[in-house]
Amino acid sequence: MTSMMRALVMDSPESQSIKTVPTPQCGPNDVLVKVALAALCGTDLHVLEWNPWAQNAGIKLPYIMGHEFCGEVVSVGTAVTTHKPGDKVAGDTHVPCGQCYQCLNGLQHICHNLKVWGVHTDGCFAEYAIIPAICARRIPTSIPDAHGAVMEPLGTALRSAHEMDLNGANLVVLGCGPIGLFAAAAAIAFGAAKVIAIDISEDRLAIANRIGVTMTLNPLKDDVTGIVLRETGGFGTDAVIEASGSVEALKQSFKYLRKGGRMALVGLPGKPISLDLGPEVIFKEAKIRGIHGRIMFETWTQMENMLAAGKLNIEPIITHTLPLEKWREGVDLATSGKGCKVLFAP
Ligand SMILES: NC(=O)c1ccc[n+]([C@@H]2O[C@H](COP(=O)([O-])OP(=O)(O)OC[C@H]3O[C@@H](n4cnc5c(N)ncnc54)[C@H](O)[C@@H]3O)[C@@H](O)[C@H]2O)c1
Ligand SMILES: [Zn+2]
Ligand SMILES: [Zn+2]
Repeated sequence: MTSMMRALVMDSPESQSIKTVPTPQCGPNDVLVKVALAALCGTDLHVLEWNPWAQNAGIKLPYIMGHEFCGEVVSVGTAVTTHKPGDKVAGDTHVPCGQCYQCLNGLQHICHNLKVWGVHTDGCFAEYAIIPAICARRIPTSIPDAHGAVMEPLGTALRSAHEMDLNGANLVVLGCGPIGLFAAAAAIAFGAAKVIAIDISEDRLAIANRIGVTMTLNPLKDDVTGIVLRETGGFGTDAVIEASGSVEALKQSFKYLRKGGRMALVGLPGKPISLDLGPEVIFKEAKIRGIHGRIMFETWTQMENMLAAGKLNIEPIITHTLPLEKWREGVDLATSGKGCKVLFAP
């Protein structure tokens, strides 16, 4: 390990570049990881845009970007007993306080004082990263780096599918970005009967087809509500996973849901929305579930089991692997929708 490393540093909303910076030092409860692969996420794109969310997210500049990765532990802090050099790890981004009501009651992923690693701290678009040991999930060495690097978003998506109880169920997945596509792959693995994937991008729908969804629909040219109702006996679908973050799509999604159906809200609409609660939720007895990331660590165990068993067809979603120096190219690929999940090798 050298004392200096290359990292993608955001200095100000207008200025980001690869720089040579000091390799970070472990605090007592941290591990230092040599990053094998990192993944670009929509959150990083919001930060680069410096949109209203990013401006209010508590990001302190300058900072090293990136929060999705896997790598190898190279050293551990003085208080760490759970990890040792050589461990393969992937990062969970929920940094819990360990003291609050949620943390003491099995819900540390929604800790009252939650910090997000790689947003409120330096991240992983770098040769090395420090991360609290509790967030450094040890993963089997049999999991390839490209899969390890996407376990954080995969976990969010897989969990939304798990919570929707999809065995034998009909499902609509709204939005075929990485999150929606990972959710579709998980839904198929969980034994969903029909998976109807919806997006306005034909490139993204093509990936959904490669994953093996039952049907793809594009609201720009298909009568989506009519087709969903026809495909579900006129009743609507058992479950919807909303992963587009589009306000219009979210409002429309309640029309697809049958009475008594289940709705996972994963996409972040970014502004308040209005709903006609009587018909859309109350008389329907819709069960709405907000999803924020992964359960620590039930979701990880499930993910590891399913990846090891080859049950998750996620390869088509990982479209590009680039050297970190080409990060701007990766950002263009993700923003234009020509790429889906883009990985960086530091
Ligand atoms: N809740 C969580 O823990 C969590 C975690 C990660 C991401 N997210 C959110 O999940 C959402 C999806 O993330 P992503 O990385 O896949 O983003 P993404 O932007 O890559 O994907 C969104 C997809 O929705 C599609 N879309 C946009 N408008 C649409 C419409 N009207 N109808 C159908 N499809 C439409 C886009 O074409 C795109 O393919 C984002 O809102 C993100 O902020 C939430
Ligand atoms: Zn992410
Ligand atoms: Zn807490």
